[in-house]
Amino acid sequence: MTKRTFRLPVLALVAIAAWGQGANAPYKVHDTKPVITHGPVLLNPSETGVSILWTTDTPCHSKVLYGSGQLDQSFEPAEHGMLKVGTRHLVHLTGLLPGRTYSYRIASTRVVKLKGYWPEKGLNVESGPFSFKTLDRSKPEASFAFITDTHEDAARVNALTGMIDWTKADFLVHGGDAFHTIESEDHLFERWLDPAAAALKQTVPLIWLRGNHETRGAFVREMPAYVAPPEGRYYFARDHGPMHLIVIDSGEDKPDETNVYGGLNNFVSYRRQEYDWFSNHVKTADRIHSAPFKVILVHQPGWGYVEMQNGKWVQLANEAGADLVISGHTHRFSHRLPKDGENRYHHLIVGQDQLAMVSATKDALTVNVIARDGKPVESFTLTPRR
Ligand SMILES: [Fe+2]
Repeated sequence: MTKRTFRLPVLALVAIAAWGQGANAPYKVHDTKPVITHGPVLLNPSETGVSILWTTDTPCHSKVLYGSGQLDQSFEPAEHGMLKVGTRHLVHLTGLLPGRTYSYRIASTRVVKLKGYWPEKGLNVESGPFSFKTLDRSKPEASFAFITDTHEDAARVNALTGMIDWTKADFLVHGGDAFHTIESEDHLFERWLDPAAAALKQTVPLIWLRGNHETRGAFVREMPAYVAPPEGRYYFARDHGPMHLIVIDSGEDKPDETNVYGGLNNFVSYRRQEYDWFSNHVKTADRIHSAPFKVILVHQPGWGYVEMQNGKWVQLANEAGADLVISGHTHRFSHRLPKDGENRYHHLIVGQDQLAMVSATKDALTVNVIARDGKPVESFTLTPRR
């Protein structure tokens, strides 16, 4: 009986060997280094994460090296199995521990040419190490600084942030309308995020509420890729010290069908979804009951255009047990006191050239507002409602 064996032709074996060796041939690395053009800026802090934004002059893939102490962890943003490649880098660090100081270093590696095989690479640029601290609901004292409606005026941003005692501000909140309209990436950075980054020094995180002017302009549809929190929406909740913070996106100030929008808006659906989220949050979040203070941050004091249902939002804020709502939008200071049958909370509207400092212990929430010229505007202390 003849034993049959199956053999690949010799030529095929040679081809496979050559392919294997060739696939591992080194890819080309050019002697060209990318430049970090903006950032890093820390955004959307939480108890377990933070977003880090920076840009490079040429397409890169990026990573963040980080750790509590040593830089012993790293995160490389990827999507659908592939590292992200581009000039804008928004990295959401997650899984962090509350109240910890983390060190971090950002790194971007240039991708000179994206090809099917052997993409051509460049060199690496790094920046850091820097550090930041995660939020922490168990912190006995917590504080933040609030500015608003800076409207593209970098000198205003510099002046107001220059007044902040950063030892008394765990993060900065911008109350919205940092712009008239947002037209490009350069515009986004030059008129707001660069001056903010200079003040925040890669260390203090920023929460930026969306104002009605941030829904206008050629670039606003790109904005989530730069500033959106990991939740992927502009409304969310955070906990820090005795404060439970609810961030509301008050959208536009006129109906969708107003001709200035040219039929390109659908805020009615968006705001209904947001209301449902807010309502559900009020019903289900433990901290609505357990946090000593509830603070709502919303750009428009009237909650924006909500189909003439503004009273529903006031009612929901009441149900949330809000102690304080902070807004901007009007460019003029106002302190609306709680009123029977209406808002049960204090409503602070911060003016365009003012800085509000908010700090809380479990027994007191203190607000100080000062004007750009240093003059005191308002000061009050709230105690927890029992
Ligand atoms: Fe506004």
